[in-house]
Amino acid sequence: MTTASVSKPIPTDLAGELVAHPNGLQILQRIRQLTKRYVTEAVLRDRLEELPQQLDCPTLRPWGAIAWREVTADQLVGIDPETFCATLLGTINTEAPIRGYTQSSRQYLAACYPAMARFVGGEVDDSGQLTTIGLWEREEKRHTPALAKMYRCLSGQHPDIVPHSARPYRPAADPHENLYRHGLHRVATEYGAACLYLWMMAHSTGALQAALGELLIDEINHMTKFWGFGMWAYPDSSLLKIGQTLSRALVAKTRDRTTQGSLLHTLRRMMHELAWERWSTTQRLTFLYTLDQVIKPICQWHQSLTPAYLTPLLGQRPLAGNDTNA
Ligand SMILES: [Fe+2]
Ligand SMILES: [Fe+2]
Repeated sequence: MTTASVSKPIPTDLAGELVAHPNGLQILQRIRQLTKRYVTEAVLRDRLEELPQQLDCPTLRPWGAIAWREVTADQLVGIDPETFCATLLGTINTEAPIRGYTQSSRQYLAACYPAMARFVGGEVDDSGQLTTIGLWEREEKRHTPALAKMYRCLSGQHPDIVPHSARPYRPAADPHENLYRHGLHRVATEYGAACLYLWMMAHSTGALQAALGELLIDEINHMTKFWGFGMWAYPDSSLLKIGQTLSRALVAKTRDRTTQGSLLHTLRRMMHELAWERWSTTQRLTFLYTLDQVIKPICQWHQSLTPAYLTPLLGQRPLAGNDTNA
């Protein structure tokens, strides 16, 4: 073989083939590759099956080393730095304040599922002071600093962080049903975050992409554990019922919002926060494609979440016979 006949290999990264200026179809291909790598039924099964051991002995998932010095705007793929940074700023503002989110979730869980309450929000003493930080919080609180660092590396400026105020816990007559709606909201936000980080990975490479990969793995991990736990705690919760509850939450008017607030309000706020108006049509469509690609393996995996599988894994439900019909 002569050297002239050896074609130069196409560079690859975590999303597969890397071209400098990908078209929409090439971005879709990158999204598919990332989904195949990070969101498979095997990954989801593994993340859920780890939950019992994490409830007993919470252990932080270590991140790989990130070469922050290499993170520059040159590592963006098919997106301009201004749009990427505007979206990044939205994720920073949405991730904070994690303490507020974990503490409201702990309160919703405490009455029915104390072990899971500890996992998400730690423990408090009699005066309400936090004595132990939950694993969910320990893992999530790495996200804002990492995203802020990306923002600084890409823009050379400090992000102007305006954190949301987490919606506080609101007790209700039926704590089990109250938790159901809260839990759906949490699963939906973890899923949304996972899709967004995957989409951002499709638009990046190198150290920037690897750093986003760590956030993606965390979000998938948490979403899977919450979803699987939810199916154990609410075995009558079919995909149809989840859809009905979400669509009710989606259209809830401000005046008759549930205790969890309107999901539509959350979505609108998120879209504004993530600078959706700056995104091109292709960027919007590729993000919708990401939502679709990621939900597919989740729906496949969801079929396996039967009581026959979940009871040996997570034990007998303490509230068996008192299922919600939320
Ligand atoms: Fe996060
Ligand atoms: Fe999250």
